Amino acid sequence: VANADLVIVGAGLFGLTIAQQVVEHNPTARVHIIDVRNHIGGNAYSYFDEQTGAEIHKYGAHLFHTSSKRVWDYVNRFTTFTNYVHRVYTTHNGEVFPLPINLGTINQFFHAAYTPAQAKALIEQQAGEYADVDPQNLNDQGIKLIGKPLYEAFIKNYTAKQWQTDPEQLPATIIRRLPVRFTYNNRYFKDTWEGLPIDGYTAWFQRMIDNPRIEVSLGVDFFDTSQPLNKAALVGKVPIVYTGPIDRYFGYSEGELKWRTVDFKEVRYAEDDHFGCPVMNYADADVPYTRAIEFKHFNPERADKQSHDNTVVWYEYSRFAGRDDDPYYPVNTDADKATYNKYKNLESAEPQVVFGGRLGQYAYFDMWATIDSALTAYEEQVAPLLKESLNA
Ligand code: FAD
Ligand code: NA
Repeated sequence: VANADLVIVGAGLFGLTIAQQVVEHNPTARVHIIDVRNHIGGNAYSYFDEQTGAEIHKYGAHLFHTSSKRVWDYVNRFTTFTNYVHRVYTTHNGEVFPLPINLGTINQFFHAAYTPAQAKALIEQQAGEYADVDPQNLNDQGIKLIGKPLYEAFIKNYTAKQWQTDPEQLPATIIRRLPVRFTYNNRYFKDTWEGLPIDGYTAWFQRMIDNPRIEVSLGVDFFDTSQPLNKAALVGKVPIVYTGPIDRYFGYSEGELKWRTVDFKEVRYAEDDHFGCPVMNYADADVPYTRAIEFKHFNPERADKQSHDNTVVWYEYSRFAGRDDDPYYPVNTDADKATYNKYKNLESAEPQVVFGGRLGQYAYFDMWATIDSALTAYEEQVAPLLKESLNA
C-alpha cells in the first residue's frame, strides 16, 4: 500500500524524532510522514515575518528548555541555541511587575523594602489566615497558597481569563503550588539549559529529517479516504505512528476530549520597540487578552536583520476549543481523564499503531518532554514493530 516501511501521521516534534530515529538505526528503512497542515514542525513551527524580520511562532511563543542531558545532546545534533534567557512581565493596575512572583514583585506591590525573611513572614502570615480552610475551589486554594493580596492581583483574573471561568467555579486541583521566590531572580525557567534555535525552529526541524529515506507529504489528512495514505487503507498493512488526536482516531466513539485553544490578534506598530520585553502578561479582568508577544525580542542577536521602524505583536485570547479549532491545552477534568482511559483501552486492538505525542496521549508536553517520550517510544515500541514487519 504505502511505499514505506513506516507511516507517521503528524510532522510535529514527536513524529520528526521517530522518523529521524528510524532511518538512523535501520539502514534501509523508508519512512513516509504526512501532515494535514502545509508545514512541518507541528505547534512549534515558526516563520520569518517579511516586514520586521521577526521570527513568528505561529502557534504561540515557544521557548526551548530542558534539564535532560539525553535530550540536550540530541537536539544539539541539529541546531545550536542562542543564549536567550526567558523573562516575563505583567501589567496590573497600570503598573508593570516582574514574574514569576519574586522579591521584586512583592516589594513593588507593597511599596516596601522587605528582606527575604520579612517577605516570607508576610506571605506566610497572609496565607496563614486561611490555614484552616479546606479549599473547595481554585480561589480558596490560591488564597491559601500565597494570601489574598498577591493572589487577587496576579493570579485570580489571569486564571479566569485563561479558563473563561470564575476561579470559584474551577477545581482547586488546577493549582497545587504557586511558587513565590524570595530573591530578585526572575529567570523564568529553572532548567539547566535554555535557548532558541540559532536559525529558527523550522531550519532545526528540516535538518532532523534531511534524509532521502524520509518522505514528507503536506496537506494530507489521515482520515481523508480520497487520498492514498488514509487510515482505512493503511491500518494493519504497515506500521503506523499516529500523533493526531486520539478521540478522532477512534471516531469519537467514547466521547470528545476537551481542549483549550488560543486566538491570536496581530498588531503592527510603526516603532522599533513596543514593550521592551518579549512577553507582557495582563493580570486584570478589564483587559480581554491574557498576554502579548513581541517576537523580535526573542532574537536580540538578529538586530541587524530586523526592522527598527516596525514591530509585530500578537495578543492572545484564550478560550475553549471546538472540534475544528487547534487543540492547545488539555482541559483534563475527571470526566476527560475517564474518557481518555477508555480510548487507551481501545489501543490494544490496534497492534500495528503506536499512539504518541501530546494529541495522541491527551497531555501537555513541553518540547523536551515530547522528544524524550519519542526517543523512548522509538526504542520500546517502534523498533520492535519495525523489526517484525521488515522481517515479514
Ligand atoms: P504537534 O506539534 O501538535 O504535532 C502533531 C501534528 O499532527 C500536527 O502538525 C498536526 O497537524 C498533525 N495531525 C493531526 N491530525 C492529523 C491528521 N488527521 N492527519 C495528518 N496530520 C495530522 N513547549 C516548550 O518546550 N516550550 C514552550 O514555550 C512551549 N510553548 C507552547 C505554547 C503553546 C500555545 C502550545 C500549544 C504548546 C507549547 N509547547 C511548548 C509545547 C510544544 O508545542 C509541544 O511539546 C510539541 O508541539 C508537541 O509535539 P507533537 O508532535 O506531540 O504535537
Ligand atoms: Na497499539
